[in-house]
Amino acid sequence: MSRNHKFSSYRKLIVGLDKEVPLSSGKKVVGINFDNAATTPPFVSVVKEVVKFSPWYSSVHRGTGYKSKISSQIYDDARRLVLDFVNADPEKYTVIFVKNTTEGINKLSYRLIGSPDCIVLSTCMEHHSNDLPWRDKCTVRYVEVDDKGRLSMEDLEDKLRKYRGSVKLVTVTGASNVTGYINDIHKIAALAHEYGAKILVDGAQLVPHAEIDMKQPDEEDHIDYLVFSAHKMYAPFGIGVIVAPKECFRYGVPEYKGGGTVQLVTREYVDWDEPPGKEEAGSPNILGVVALIAAIEELRKLGMKNLERQEEVLTDYALMRMKKIPFIQLYGEVDDKVKRVGIIPFNIVGIPHQEIAKILSEDAGIAVRSGCFCAQPYVQRLLNIPGGEIEMYRTHPALNKPGLVRISFGLYNTFNEVDGFISKINRIVTNKDFC
Ligand SMILES: Cc1ncc(COP(=O)(O)O)c(C=O)c1O
Repeated sequence: MSRNHKFSSYRKLIVGLDKEVPLSSGKKVVGINFDNAATTPPFVSVVKEVVKFSPWYSSVHRGTGYKSKISSQIYDDARRLVLDFVNADPEKYTVIFVKNTTEGINKLSYRLIGSPDCIVLSTCMEHHSNDLPWRDKCTVRYVEVDDKGRLSMEDLEDKLRKYRGSVKLVTVTGASNVTGYINDIHKIAALAHEYGAKILVDGAQLVPHAEIDMKQPDEEDHIDYLVFSAHKMYAPFGIGVIVAPKECFRYGVPEYKGGGTVQLVTREYVDWDEPPGKEEAGSPNILGVVALIAAIEELRKLGMKNLERQEEVLTDYALMRMKKIPFIQLYGEVDDKVKRVGIIPFNIVGIPHQEIAKILSEDAGIAVRSGCFCAQPYVQRLLNIPGGEIEMYRTHPALNKPGLVRISFGLYNTFNEVDGFISKINRIVTNKDFC
C-alpha cells in the first residue's frame, strides 16, 4: 500500500478538494488547503444530510405541524449524541447550542463568574476567545509557558496554591491554535479540582482531532466545561457547543433573553425555562445541528484514534522536511516528541510572514494563514518581542506587525501536498533575495 493510499482515501469524504484556484500567472491549479485550524471544508456526508433534511426543515419548539415536530425531535435528540461523543454523563450534563466557541466561552464567562474578585486562571497560550471574555468580569491570572511555549504545570500549581480558595476556574485550551501543543487536560483538571476550582476546556482545536472523554463528575480529573465549534470539524453551518453541568445554568438569568427562554411571563415577572431552553434565546439553528451530528457520525466512523495517528504521521513528516530547509525558523518544540495536533508555525528569515503567505497562495495555490492567529500575547512571547516594541506598533499602526506563518492539517491532507508545499518553500528560500 502506498504511503499516500490511506490519506487519499479520505479525500472523497470532503467537498471541494478538486477545485482549481487561480494563480497570479493566470494559470489554475488544484488548491492545497493547509489552513484547517481556521476552518475546515465540509464533509460530503454533512452536505448530503443537510440537503436530505431540508424538505423537513421547520421551526424548532415553536410549531405543532408535522415538520416542526420532526425538526424539534432531531434538535433535542442531538444533545444526547453530542454528550455521547465527548463521553459526558447525560444525567448530569447538558448541551447548549451556540454559534461557535467564542460565543460559548463568552456565555460561560457571564454565567460562571459571580464577583469581580473571583480569580480565573487562564494561560499565556490562549486564543483571544479564551482570554478577553474573562478580563472584564473577574481577576484573570495567566499561567506561564516555558521558553518553547509549553504550558508550565509548575506555574499552574504555584498559582493554584498562591490563590488557594479564590480560584473559581482554570480555563485552558485543549490544543493551541499556534503551536498545536496538546495540553494534558485531565492532569490540569485533577490539579484544579484539588484546589477547589473547576476547569473549562476550549476544545476548538482539540475536538476535531482527538478523542475526548469528559469523564464522570466524581472522577477527580473530569472536565467541567467543554466548548467547541462545528466549522472546525467539517460542519460549517454556524453551530457551536457548550457541554456543562445542568446545575450551572439552573439558577440565574440568561444574558440573552427572548423567545424560547421562558415558561411564564407577565408584566410583573418572568419564570425562566429550565436549561438548556433558557440559554438558547431565539429560533434554534436546526440546520447547524443536523450538520454537526452528521460530522460527528462521520468522525466516529473514521475513528478519532485513527485520525489522531494519521495527522501525527503527516505532521512529523512535514516537520522533518521543514527542519532541513535553510532559513526556516520553526517555533516551539520540534526536536523532542510532544503531543500536538497538525499545526506548524514558521517563518523564513528575511521575508515578512505576510509575504510568504501571499507567495504560497498566488504562486502555488497553497492556502495558509499568517499573522498572530488571534493569539497575540502568545505569538509575541514565541517571537520574544519586547513590550516596548509592541507599543511602537500601537503608535504606528501602518507598520507591518510581526507574526508567523501557520500550516494546519485536516484529516484529508496528504504527503503529496506536503511535498508540493516543501518544494515551493525551497524555491522561496532559494530566491529569497528577490522577494
Ligand atoms: C483555540 C481556539 N479557541 C477558540 C477559537 C475561536 O473559535 P470560533 O472562531 O469558532 O469561535 C479558535 C479559532 O480559531 C481557536 O483556535
